[in-house]
Amino acid sequence: MNKGISVGLLGLGTVGTGVIQIIQAHQQELQHQVGCPVSIGKVLVKNLQKERDIDIDASLLTDQPDDVVLNPDIDVIIEVMGGVEEAKGHIVKALHNKKHVVTANKDLMALYGAELITVASKNECDLFYEASVAGGIPIIRSLVEGLSSDRITKMMGIVNGTTNYILTKMSKYGSSYADVLKEAQQLGYAESDPTADVEGLDAARKMAILATLGFSMSVALEDVSVRGISSVSDDDLKYASQMGYTMKLIGLAQRDEGRVEISVQPTLLPNEHPLSSVNDEYNAVYVYGEAVGETMFYGPGAGSLPTATAVVSDLVTVMKHMRLGVTGRSALPPLYDKQLKTDEEMESKYFLRLHVEDRAGSFSAITSLFADHLVSFEKLLQLPIKGENDMAEIVMITHKTNKKTYEEISQKLRDLDVVKEVKSSYRVEGGQSK
Ligand code: NAP
Ligand code: HSE
Repeated sequence: MNKGISVGLLGLGTVGTGVIQIIQAHQQELQHQVGCPVSIGKVLVKNLQKERDIDIDASLLTDQPDDVVLNPDIDVIIEVMGGVEEAKGHIVKALHNKKHVVTANKDLMALYGAELITVASKNECDLFYEASVAGGIPIIRSLVEGLSSDRITKMMGIVNGTTNYILTKMSKYGSSYADVLKEAQQLGYAESDPTADVEGLDAARKMAILATLGFSMSVALEDVSVRGISSVSDDDLKYASQMGYTMKLIGLAQRDEGRVEISVQPTLLPNEHPLSSVNDEYNAVYVYGEAVGETMFYGPGAGSLPTATAVVSDLVTVMKHMRLGVTGRSALPPLYDKQLKTDEEMESKYFLRLHVEDRAGSFSAITSLFADHLVSFEKLLQLPIKGENDMAEIVMITHKTNKKTYEEISQKLRDLDVVKEVKSSYRVEGGQSK
């Protein structure tokens, strides 16, 4: 190892460029920790002719994956190309060729994490993926090392930088959804297809990874109920604010007596909630452990250098393991069987916005429906709708109820004559609770 470590990169985009910058700029610190120089051996790109944001020797670039994954001089592969099947193929090949792997790819890890970790262990190789969740925040390391002695019962996170950037700009400056999404793309926060960001899938992948590690059970992507932010309107944000709440795309993983719920959805948080003040592309993960109590991890959730920091820190861990001769031994099988909560077991408060006929009896028809289901209100507003004299808007936040009851109420509301439209409905976290 004294000859130095050679790293093969798959991808030289936003994250790959940051990885090379950090390896170059922090060479002294890296050498101090691992005892040898760290160099870039080869870099896979799609388009060899593309202009790069980094000064790199053209002879290091290749468009042939095997020049990297089968290269006998390369010790560690860093996969930052994205996508699933192709990236998986390269990683499996690299592992079979006894190369350690670091990846930032949550799409891949959420789908094939368990399989890849098994291949890595069988080949006595390390496979690390810190950058796959919450960019520069070392949340995976915190769960599997820092909090390893505790039993984690709740994780709640803002784990997608793009949507947090969009919601922040819409709420604070009234910016348009489409304009801010474009900005997030230009800043390198969004995925190549931003649908995964705005429809919540990117956050769902991250929550599946966090729940698997935090609860020590095998949580799959299809166990996460997902809703994105594309239907959040300016009016929803305005009313949330009037009622003392902030809208965030929240990933929730909660365990009660061995049964879990995992979701990603736009959620109203009271303004004083610590996650409410996490703005722009920043991410934060709140973790509750039975022994430690409340902890919170905060930092940049996307972008070139923050994400690359997590990647290169994984590389340092791999290099330390190589030096100690303990590679491929970190992964543990899940301890618990997964049991998902039923809809009756999932409790929450809800925000609901309705357009109703403005006539005697409308209001009481609606409130009676809630009363019949033993659901009461934390806040309730009735307001005129501009330009529509015979219509009114009702905005409410309920006290806690279970998901099954809430869905029954929602259906019955739609069937009421006086209700013209259920404009929106969101989960509400925290605040006064009953
Ligand atoms: P990106 O900017 O789109 O870069 C992708 C790179 O991979 C490009 O250099 C591209 O080559 C290369 N590439 C893609 N497909 C290829 C193929 N089939 N063959 C050869 N090369 C290929 O992506 P990114 O934002 O850096 O993201 C990379 C990974 O990190 C993704 O898994 C992403 O989810 C994850 N991640 C990103 C962030 C972030 O803030 N951006 C944060 C955390 C995790 P060309 O340059 O020639 O096109
Ligand atoms: N597109 C992702 C985000 C990148 O916006 O959070 C970081 O995983």
